Amino acid sequence: MRTLLNDGSGLTARQCATRSRRCGGHGLPSRASRTAALMAVQRGLESTRPTPQRLFEDPLARSFLTVPWRLALGASRFGPVRRIIETAYDLVAGPGPRASSIARTKLIDDTVEALAPSVDQVVVLGAGYDTRPYRLNCLSGHQVFEVDQAGTQAAKTAALRRAGTGLKGVAFVPVNFEIDNLGRALLDAGYRPEHPTLFLWEGVTQYLSTDAVDGTLSTIHDLAPMGGYVVFTYVDSAALDKGPSPFPEAGKWLREVNKRGEPWIFGVIPADLAGFLTQRGLRLLDDLSTAEAGALYFGPLGRRDRGSGLYHVAIAAIVPKEAVVPK
Ligand SMILES: C[S@@+](CC[C@H](N)C(=O)[O-])C[C@H]1O[C@@H](n2cnc3c(N)ncnc32)[C@H](O)[C@@H]1O
Repeated sequence: MRTLLNDGSGLTARQCATRSRRCGGHGLPSRASRTAALMAVQRGLESTRPTPQRLFEDPLARSFLTVPWRLALGASRFGPVRRIIETAYDLVAGPGPRASSIARTKLIDDTVEALAPSVDQVVVLGAGYDTRPYRLNCLSGHQVFEVDQAGTQAAKTAALRRAGTGLKGVAFVPVNFEIDNLGRALLDAGYRPEHPTLFLWEGVTQYLSTDAVDGTLSTIHDLAPMGGYVVFTYVDSAALDKGPSPFPEAGKWLREVNKRGEPWIFGVIPADLAGFLTQRGLRLLDDLSTAEAGALYFGPLGRRDRGSGLYHVAIAAIVPKEAVVPK
């Protein structure tokens, strides 16, 4: 595994300074994540497409957005307006992010539908404005834990209440993966290790230090002695390298997340992923770039959207503790 690390903490001095400002020095950021809002914009836009053309509908996405964005989404119900907004979005952010996000959300939705019958609990790590617990019927009987930083959770729960969404069956667990004890926080919130669990970690690893990614994966293994699954995304570390990139979309994409104060600092070489996971008690089941997922989903609809080769969705089984051969 190769990461973009500059020192032992995994952060450059500038990133540390930004992060500590963001966290108010105590790990609980006072503001909601801006990249989480971008995801809500993309899902909201997708939801305005006519039914046969869209990959999913996320009716709550607009609830998390500012008034101008809600007005724009309202207007996007008219095809020509939506096309103008999508084109403008892709011009500013580059051709990758929107289609990549839509393809990844659809792939993860389908994976959740397939895995939900085999688990009792779902933990959504770095949940942001993910609305799966409220829009996927397959999760209605599951205990769900949403984990994110306090500022984002406060904004989300306020928006869900305003939208009249019941929060029954969902526990909100404020955690900063960099500094907090995820395992302790989940156990305190009622997580039951004896139940098979699905962990979702979408759109988060690239914002974390290597230590935080490592620690979270180890905690997942510790928390699921009976086994379960983890579905997570990562970026190809080649996209983070300085100099000419094998991914033409990388430059604008990185600039956009930097502008929002949430830089990408972690990546994985796809060829190294299986070995890395094995060392942490996880077995890689599948790994698709969003370009591959996009070909699966957009192709049959005749849409010109493409995903991106730099952004991956990985699905892994959590190896039950007793099955791990002691060294
Ligand atoms: C791009 S958003 C993705 C949100 C959601 N999973 C989705 O796909 O829409 C990244 C999320 O990771 C969360 N996040 C970033 N760094 C974190 C940290 N150190 N601890 C906890 N959450 C973090 C942010 O608050 C944000 O909600």
